[in-house]
Amino acid sequence: MQLINGRAVAAQMKKEIAEEVSRIREAGGKIPHLAAVLVGHDGGSETYVASKVKTCEEVGFKSSLIRYEDEVTEEELLACVDRLNNDPDIDGFIVQLPLPKHISEQKIIEAIDYRKDVDGFHPINVGRMSIGLPCFVSATPAGILELLKRYDIETKGKHCVVLGRSNIVGKPMANLMMQKAYPGDCTVTVCHSRSENLKEMCLEADIIIVALGVPEFLKADMVKEGAVVIDVGITRMPSSITKSGFKLTGDVKFDEVSSKCSYITPVPGGVGPMTIISLMRNTLLAGKKAIYK
Ligand code: GUN
Repeated sequence: MQLINGRAVAAQMKKEIAEEVSRIREAGGKIPHLAAVLVGHDGGSETYVASKVKTCEEVGFKSSLIRYEDEVTEEELLACVDRLNNDPDIDGFIVQLPLPKHISEQKIIEAIDYRKDVDGFHPINVGRMSIGLPCFVSATPAGILELLKRYDIETKGKHCVVLGRSNIVGKPMANLMMQKAYPGDCTVTVCHSRSENLKEMCLEADIIIVALGVPEFLKADMVKEGAVVIDVGITRMPSSITKSGFKLTGDVKFDEVSSKCSYITPVPGGVGPMTIISLMRNTLLAGKKAIYK
């Protein structure tokens, strides 16, 4: 069994991006600028956005954090999106989700100029991805592809089972794994909360990507010997052992599954660190106008 070290890959990518920013700076080019919009004070969102801003600084990007209280109206947020769309210094921006219930997330996402949509959530980016055109690919699926690539994991002709059908992970992941590409060229099955034969499907899988948000869902009796297991789950579980009072738990029962795998991602330290660095890479691509002019 080989452990997939997302922390090490993310650190390497960070170095590569920082070096490219240095070259851009020396050549007198434009420094990539990412803006993040954060509404309210949700603990998870605060942590993620702070981490995104910090990583921008570490790779040499410009960053802007725009904050609103929970009471912000949809109109105010749409006006903010419009300003960012039209600000020539901003190369890409994200609106951190979830948003308060009185605001339509879909309306906000669709208001973002797809050329600045470094989250890859706009229907134009999602549609372009699904037919294999250049686009911004959302960060978690992009990070998983990068792990498969950097560990040289064979995907062609393999059976990949994706557990979960969210717009952010499950759907794009399934789509990418079936593209005529590397990583890709898989036969893909998507299972979800209503699937009746989920265990049988998993037992057929060469590659299992679990993105259900159900702690320790995937057990050893659901995994074929030699399978590759990618764990996207990160649930904060209360813990009496850690100082913080919680422990990050994946969707895979790691202790019993890992010995059956050829490769497996741990939690923490697997997929998680890849997500933010993939957003940085999208921002670099946006800054270089590498995808859209
Ligand atoms: N909330 C959870 N993940 C994400 C993400 O990747 N982007 C944004 N904007 N919000 C999120």
